[in-house]
Amino acid sequence: MRATLHIIGVGPGDPGLLTVKALNVLCHCPVIATPKASQHGHSTALSIVQQALSAGEMNGKEVVELHFPMKKIHLGQEPDPEVLQAWQDAAGRIFAILSQGKDVAFPTLGDPAIYSTGYYLYATIMEMHPEIRVQFVPGISAMSSCSATTHTPICLGDDMLAVVPATFSDSRLRQTLESFDTIVLMKVHRVIDHLIGLLSELKLLDKAVLVERVGMADERVVSDLLAISGQVHYFSTIIVRKK
Ligand SMILES: C[S@@+](CC[C@H](N)C(=O)[O-])C[C@H]1O[C@@H](n2cnc3c(N)ncnc32)[C@H](O)[C@@H]1O
Repeated sequence: MRATLHIIGVGPGDPGLLTVKALNVLCHCPVIATPKASQHGHSTALSIVQQALSAGEMNGKEVVELHFPMKKIHLGQEPDPEVLQAWQDAAGRIFAILSQGKDVAFPTLGDPAIYSTGYYLYATIMEMHPEIRVQFVPGISAMSSCSATTHTPICLGDDMLAVVPATFSDSRLRQTLESFDTIVLMKVHRVIDHLIGLLSELKLLDKAVLVERVGMADERVVSDLLAISGQVHYFSTIIVRKK
């Protein structure tokens, strides 16, 4: 098979943060297979691509929407059957397009190396069709963009960094907050109250900053986490920097 699947990081929201390579590959691919979290919702990755490419560059492209349900994935454990089915369906649909000789771009939020569907898709498609050619294009991660927006370095000198999916709140979270110099908390939306309590208990509230929807029209930076009332958006990241 000569066609290639390109798994492309498109950054966390600001279309200006797509790399030149991402733009070139997106322009060249006739098909964009785009992930979305709900059947009837829209794909954030696709909307970033649509803002970055001109109408002319988008013209004639086939857009294939793929539904990936948002469920917790514990590595080393069998994923939820609905999730597994979604990965297999997506891999099957992409394989069918590649078999017609068409290159496929799979844009994914931020960087594909960080909690991204891109790698689950990659593993599934390689298991089903190991002959497929796949290329990754790295993207700017949400944490890098949150760091830039808040002028907060992520790590300097001998700092040690931990990146944590905060929804898996267990004893490891407390331990990580105690041991590392900088802790990036992702997927904080469902556990924000618990996190604020924990940060307060560990006297880290004044070291934390939350960025919601970085690079998007309604971006919000919150330095006083106690001022947060109600839920925060799924696109929220907290940087805790102790030094
Ligand atoms: C499934 S992970 C995707 C991470 C992405 N691959 C990356 O490199 O940043 C989703 C989490 O990334 C963070 N995130 C993604 N986009 C964001 C944005 N625009 N602003 C703030 N955080 C964001 C949030 O913590 C969110 O819960």
